[in-house]
Amino acid sequence: MNVLLIGSGGREHAIAKKLIESPKLTKLYSIPGNPGISSISETIGTDLKIDSIVKLAKEKSVDLIFCGPEQPLVDGLSDLAEKSGIKTFGPSKMGAALEGSKIFSKQFMSKYDIPTSDYKYFYNYDEAVSYFKRRKTYPVVIKADGLAAGKGVKIAKNREEADEIIKSYFIDKSLGKSGESIVIEEFLTGEEMSAIYITDGTTFLPLIAAKDYKKVYDDDKGENTGGMGAYAPHLAYTDELKKIIEDNIISKIKIGLKKEGIDYRGALYVGLMLTDEGPKVIEFNCRFGDPETQVILPLMDSDLLNIANLAAGKKLSGTTIKWKNSFAGCVVIASEGYPGDYKKGVNIEFSGNPFDFIHAGTKQVSDKIVTNGGRVLNAVSIGSSKSSALLSCYKLLEKVKFDGCFYRKDIGT
Ligand code: AMP
Ligand code: GLY
Repeated sequence: MNVLLIGSGGREHAIAKKLIESPKLTKLYSIPGNPGISSISETIGTDLKIDSIVKLAKEKSVDLIFCGPEQPLVDGLSDLAEKSGIKTFGPSKMGAALEGSKIFSKQFMSKYDIPTSDYKYFYNYDEAVSYFKRRKTYPVVIKADGLAAGKGVKIAKNREEADEIIKSYFIDKSLGKSGESIVIEEFLTGEEMSAIYITDGTTFLPLIAAKDYKKVYDDDKGENTGGMGAYAPHLAYTDELKKIIEDNIISKIKIGLKKEGIDYRGALYVGLMLTDEGPKVIEFNCRFGDPETQVILPLMDSDLLNIANLAAGKKLSGTTIKWKNSFAGCVVIASEGYPGDYKKGVNIEFSGNPFDFIHAGTKQVSDKIVTNGGRVLNAVSIGSSKSSALLSCYKLLEKVKFDGCFYRKDIGT
C-alpha cells in the first residue's frame, strides 16, 4: 500500500516509525513532515490545505491517507479524499466537529447522556459578562469553542480572572475566530486519563490508556500546553475501569454517531477526568494524542497500518490489538517561552544520533538541525516498569541541548 502521512509533530514521527514496520507498506509519503519523519519517508509537500493534499495523494496513487493532526479533518479532508476514491484514517468533517467545536461536542454529550461537567455556552461578550456578574462559585473553566492548539482552555479562580479571559477572547480576539464563542464548564477534580480508540464507527478498539502531563512546569504549575510528557499504561487503567468507560461512555458514543449519521473512521481520543462520581469526559479529539502516541505505539505488538486500513474501510469487526507487557515513557524538551511566544531557528546540539529522539518542532538547515516549534523533541523509552522507562528518557535527554531548552523533571511521578 502507498500511504500518505499528514503532520509534522512528535505524534506523526511516532506514527511513521510504526507504519514502516508493516509488511503491507509499499511506500510512505509525508506532508509536511519534519527531519525525523523525512528520514524514514518521502516528504512530498508542505501545504496542509485539503485540496493540495488530495491532489498529491492522487498523483502518488496513495491508497490510504493517515491524518495525524485535527485541522485537515475539521476542514473536511476525509470527505474530499473519499470523492477521489482515497480512504482516510480520520473522521469525516461532521465527526471531526466533536473536536472542532466544543459547543457541538458538549451538546452531543448532553443529548446522549455521556457523563461530562455541567456547562453553558455564549456567542457574545455581553451575555458572558452578565453571566459572570451573577455567578458566585469558582474556579470555573472557560474554553474557546474552536481549535486553539491547546491554548483555548483557561481556568478562572475568581470573577476578575474570568472577566480578563472573556475580554481576551471576545474583544482582543486573542484566538481569532476560535474564541468568538465560548463554553463555560464546572471545574472537575480527579486524575486525568487519555483513552484513545481506533474505530470504524461501529467497532471500537481501545488502545492502552495513557497519562499526559499537560501543565508546562513541574508539580502541574503554569499554563496548559499540548502535553509535556506521558507514560503508558496509565496506572488507574484496570479492567474494571475499562468496562465502566465502555458501558457508560463508548456505548453511548456509538449510539450518538449512528443517530446523528456521523461517519467516524479513525481515532477517537476521549479525554477523561476520573472523578469521585466516575469517569467524566473532558473533551473529544478526532485524532491520536501528542505525546500519548509516543508512548502507546511502542507498546503495540500489532500492525498499525493493517488496523488503520481496516478502520478506514469499515472492516474492523473481529480485529484485536496485541500489547507488549511493558511501560513506555516520554519527556518533551521545549523552547523557552512555550506555550507562549518562543524563538525558532536555535541550533540543537546532539551528542549521539539525532534520530534517537522523536522529532517534533525541528527543522533541517543544511547539515544542522534547528528548533522550529515550542515542543522540539521527545525522549521516548520503554522499560519493565514506569520508573525504568522514564529513567531512560531522562538519560537520553542528557544527550541534547539548545539555548533556552527546558523540560519537566517530574514526568511519571
Ligand atoms: P481540553 O482541551 O478540553 O482537554 O482541556 C485541556 C485541559 O484543561 C484538560 O486536559 C484539563 O487539564 C483541563 N480541563 C479542561 N476541562 C476541565 C474541567 N471541566 N475541569 C477541570 N479541568 C479541565
Ligand atoms: N496531549 C493532548 C492532546 O493530544 O490533545
